[in-house]
Amino acid sequence: MKVKTALNLLRKNASETKTPERLPRHVAIIMDGNGRWAKKHKMSVSKGHRQGTETLREIIRHTDDLGIEALSLYAFSTENWNRSEDEVAALMQLILDFFASEIDELDAKNVRILILGDKGRLPEKQRETLLEAERRTQNNTGLRLNIAINYGGRAELVKAAQEIAVLVRNGTLRAESITEETLADHLYTRGQPDVDLLIRTSGEMRLSNFLLYQNAYAEFVFPETLWPDFTVAEYDKALGAYGKRDRRFGGRTADDETEMEAP
Ligand code: FPP
Repeated sequence: MKVKTALNLLRKNASETKTPERLPRHVAIIMDGNGRWAKKHKMSVSKGHRQGTETLREIIRHTDDLGIEALSLYAFSTENWNRSEDEVAALMQLILDFFASEIDELDAKNVRILILGDKGRLPEKQRETLLEAERRTQNNTGLRLNIAINYGGRAELVKAAQEIAVLVRNGTLRAESITEETLADHLYTRGQPDVDLLIRTSGEMRLSNFLLYQNAYAEFVFPETLWPDFTVAEYDKALGAYGKRDRRFGGRTADDETEMEAP
C-alpha cells in the first residue's frame, strides 16, 4: 500500500474513533518570528523571510504527505504594507521566487492553490503569477493550499457582507434566508472545512485578523520556536497536541454527561 494511502486510512479511522491520532482537516499557520530570527543571526530581515520560505516548503510537503485536506498560510497581511519599502519589496520578490521554484512540484502533486486576499493592490507581476498558479491548479483535487496575501479577516467579512447585500437588493435572496452557510459561501475559503488547528510560531498568542470566521472553533497551538527554525518534528508535535484536545464545539462530551449523572 502506498504510504499516502496508508496515512489517509489512518487519518480516516482515527477521526472516526476519536483516538489521539486523529488529524485536523484544515490547518492554518501564522508564520511568525522571521524578523527576530534575522536579528538573532545578525542578518537582514529579508534573509529571515527567505529562511522562513524554506520552512514553508517543508511544512507544505509534510502536510501533503499526511493527507491533510487544507492548509492556510498567512504570508502577507493588509497591515504588512506599513513595513519598510525594502522589507515589502523583499517579501514581494519571495512570492515570485516561491512560485517559480515550487509550482511544477505542487501541480504534479495535485495541490490546488488558492490566494486569500485582494490581489488588486499587488504589483502586476505578482498578481499575474498568483492568478496563473490558481488557474493552473484549479482542477487539482489534492491538498487545498491557501496562501493569504494582502489578506485581512475583517476585510474578507466586509466583502462577503457586500456581496450578500447585492443579492438581497436584486431580489435573489431574502434577508431572512441568510444563514451561517450563506456567509461561509462568500468567503475566500468557500467549500472548504473550517480551520481545526491554528498554529502561530514565536510565542505570540494573537489571531492578527487571520481567518476570523473560519477559526471560530479552531484549537490553538503556540510553539515558542521562531518560524525559520520550526521543524517538521515540531509540526508533528502540534498535530499530536491537537489530536489530544477535547473538542466540544460548545456542547458536552459523553464523559461530561456521565459525570453529571453521578449523584
Ligand atoms: C512574520 O514574521 C512573517 C511575515 C510577515 C511574512 C511571512 C512570509 C514568509 C514566511 C515567506 C513569504 C511567503 C511566500 C508565500 C513565499 P515577522 O517578520 O513579523 O517576525 P518578527 O515578529 O520576529 O519581526
